[in-house]
Amino acid sequence: MQQIKAFCMEKYNITSEVSVYRDDELLPEDRELVEAAKCATEHSYAPYSQFRVGAALRLADGTVTTGSNQENASYPLGLCAERTAIFHAQHTHPDQPVEAIAIAAWANGHFYPDPISPCGACRQVMLEVENRYGRPMRVLLYGTSGTHVVSSVRDLLPFQFVSESLKK
Ligand code: THU
Repeated sequence: MQQIKAFCMEKYNITSEVSVYRDDELLPEDRELVEAAKCATEHSYAPYSQFRVGAALRLADGTVTTGSNQENASYPLGLCAERTAIFHAQHTHPDQPVEAIAIAAWANGHFYPDPISPCGACRQVMLEVENRYGRPMRVLLYGTSGTHVVSSVRDLLPFQFVSESLKK
């Protein structure tokens, strides 16, 4: 069999660090944020997927604000919890950097052991928040078996399309 050699100029790896915490290991303010995200699932409007997602943001001044997924009979019009929470926060507190976001999902009568991870569209919107304020936003992904934490959205979206990309 003919072997095809794949040449490339350069190869590199991109790594992300994720820390997993039990509830009692979380900082008190992180535990509070995770609780707020869990509570926010109760305000989800998810008659089509029955998948309730809650997101909670902690702003630099300590304000905690939340959002949940909002669905529509015209499916693509629905909005994820993360973007609902972020757009609301940026409208009500435009001058407050966002320090952290916690995300929780509830379905079939319970929270899942493994956390859900934000969809690509939400990651892109979360990245814009970091760039807007020039500060990393910690992301806390809640699961009953542990909360998975990254210290920046960049760990979830390593190859970014940002405003500078438009100028190239
Ligand atoms: N959903 C979110 O709200 N956030 C995510 O990170 C993933 C998915 C919502 C969208 C839709 O209402 C439901 O979950 C099922 O996809």
